[in-house]
This record gives sequence, C-alpha cells and structure tokens, in this order.
Amino acid sequence: METKTTTPLLTPYKMGDFNLAHRVVLAPLTRCRSYGNIAQPHNALYYAQRAAPGVLLIAEACAVSEAARGYPHVPGLWSQEQVEAWRPVVDAVHAKGAVFFCQLWHTGRVSPTEFQPNGQAPVSSTDKQVPPEVAHDGSVLEFAPPRRLETEEIPHIVNDFRVAARNAMRAGFDGVEIHAGNGYLIDQFMKDGVNDRTDEYGGGLDNRCRFAAEVIAAVCHEAGAGRVGVRLSPFADYVDCVDSDPEALALHVMGVMNGLGVLYCHMIEPRMCVNEWMIPRRLLPFRKAFKGTFMVNGGYDREEGDKAVAEGYADLVAYGRLFLANPDLPERFRRNAVLNKYDRSTFYTSDPVVGYTDYPFLETED
Ligand SMILES: Cc1cc2nc3c(=O)[nH]c(=O)nc-3n(C[C@H](O)[C@H](O)[C@H](O)COP(=O)(O)O)c2cc1C
Repeated sequence: METKTTTPLLTPYKMGDFNLAHRVVLAPLTRCRSYGNIAQPHNALYYAQRAAPGVLLIAEACAVSEAARGYPHVPGLWSQEQVEAWRPVVDAVHAKGAVFFCQLWHTGRVSPTEFQPNGQAPVSSTDKQVPPEVAHDGSVLEFAPPRRLETEEIPHIVNDFRVAARNAMRAGFDGVEIHAGNGYLIDQFMKDGVNDRTDEYGGGLDNRCRFAAEVIAAVCHEAGAGRVGVRLSPFADYVDCVDSDPEALALHVMGVMNGLGVLYCHMIEPRMCVNEWMIPRRLLPFRKAFKGTFMVNGGYDREEGDKAVAEGYADLVAYGRLFLANPDLPERFRRNAVLNKYDRSTFYTSDPVVGYTDYPFLETED
C-alpha cells in the first residue's frame, strides 16, 4: 500500500525570488527532439507533463550558436525563430505554475564536423582531439580535430552566451543555467588536462577560469544574477576533461559566482565518475563555500535525496533519468509509489512520442 509522507525533500524552499513547492528539480536532459534546432509542440507537451505548481524545471541544453551544437536536433537560442518557437513551450510550463530555467551550452570540441557550419573544425581551448567514444548504443562516436580559438575570438563566444541568455529571457524563461561541466567548452577552458594555452586564457587557475568568469558575468549582466545558475562537474572526466586539482578549481569558480551573486550552483556528484564514488559528501566544501542555493545531482533516489536535504548537504536535488521516466516524480515521491523504469534506448532518439511523452502517470488519487 502507498503511504503519504512529507519528508525533507518535499518541504518548500525559497530560492531567491522563486517560491518552490519542494526540493525535487528536473535536471537538464538533451532529448534530440527539436527538429532543425527549433522547439516543437511535442517539446511543450513533454515539459508540461513534468510541470506542477512550484516545481523547478531546467530545460535541456540549448546551443548558443550554430557552431555550439554537437548532437542532432538539439534546440538553439541564437535566432528570432528559435525564440518564437520556445514561447509556447514556456507558456505551457507556466500555465501549470512551474518555474522554468533554460540551460545554455557550447559543446566546443565535443562535436562531429557534420554539425559545424560549412564543415569547419569545432573550436576549443586546444587543438588536442577528443578520443573516440563508445555511445550508449555501442556505436563509436568520432570527433573532429578541433581548432584552437584565437585570443581575440573568445569575446565573440562570450557574446554568443550573452545573446542566448537575452533570447531565453525574451522567450519567457524565468532564468538560465550556464552549462560549465561535463567536458564541454567552458570545462575545456577550466581543466588543466585539456587547456594547454599560453595566453591569458591558459596556465594558472585565474587564467583557465577567465572564460568561465567572463561568460558568467556577461550572462548575469543580461539576465540579472538572481536569475542565473551555473552547472559544474569538477570531478568528472567525460571526454578526457580532467583537472589535477578539482577542489581548488571549483572553489575558484565559486568565488567568482559569490562575487556576482549567482542564484544557484548546480553540482554533479563525483560518484558519477568511476574512481571517486567511494568518498561520501565530497561536495561539502563547495556547499559551505557557496552563498546561494546549492543543488546536487547524480544517482539520487528518494531516500538519498531526503538524506542530503535533511543533513543540510544540499538545498535542492536534481533528478535526471528518474524524472525523464516519471513525469509526476515529486508526486510519486510523496506517495512513495513505484517508479517507471527508464528506457535508455530512447534517450536520444527523435520520435516525438515513444520514450518521450508516453511514460505513464500514476492513477489519480480517490
Ligand atoms: C538522456 C540524458 C540527457 C542529458 N542531457 C544533459 C544536458 O543537456 N545537460 C546537462 O548538463 N546534463 C545532461 N545530462 C546529465 C543529467 O543532467 C544528469 O546529470 C545525469 O542524468 C545524472 O543524474 P541522474 O542520476 O539523476 O540521472 C543528460 C543525461 C541523460 C541521461
């Protein structure tokens, strides 16, 4: 029999100006169903299914420019047409009372040439190539050799983030999350395993974090710091993006974020990486250092999320795969109900329904 409980995870939380009904957040999830980089009506249905009063939803990563793309059918935010297409999606989410942030993304060297305008090389902090990766379906992903950005080109990319933030706000989003993790462009600048530059964007921590700091400042200037979050994965080693001192790196970025008054910090747990999972509460120093809302993600279930909030380790917990497969995840947690299982094979397929909007809801309560 189902039991109804109010647990720490399900208590209200005030994140800056936003009154959240509980601590369960939809993590950003690329679903490759925005054909031609334009949001679609089925995207509105998918997000509206997960919306409810006071829930924070973070939309999938949106490319900040044509060159920022690394996967098929990802939405973008560089054109007026893309802004117009996002509006009904945002309206559908707001109609159900949810708070909607949008993630801004540049994949950098994690991009096959097919996604680059005129077949050009993808840009990065380096010209070192990403080794081939085995995809979830067993196929091998080959990345194109990147082109090291010239120093004077970097402000243009910062500006792409700024314009995308402005476009997100014009589309009606409540705020934006800067994707500064998982081995994508900002991570490629921050981490010393990849960044081999000799200009003011390479070398010491200050220099390696300069691009991140400039993007965060530009986006805060555009959207207001109270509407900006930053996602970081200091311990991750995706696509070869590693750092020799992840603690120092993240604390440095956190200093920048505190200085600007960034609303929230969204951190991915090291347990998502093979060698780090043994160390519990690894993010505690960052939780203590950050002055705003602290959100954790990665491998959480209901019980672990409850513990994290109860201990004060996190204010909010973002759920990826569980929320993907359970459109009513917070309600299922409240009723301690059985969860739908996620189907990995449809994570990144392009069907507008299958594995996307067809995950069942709970029966309604009597
Ligand atoms: C299908 C899929 C798409 C994802 N897309 C993104 C994305 O667009 N941006 C991002 O920062 N992380 C992305 N991630 C990572 C998730 O946000 C999250 O960190 C990961 O799923 C671990 O959390 P979980 O254990 O709750 O699923 C994606 C993960 C999955 C499974």
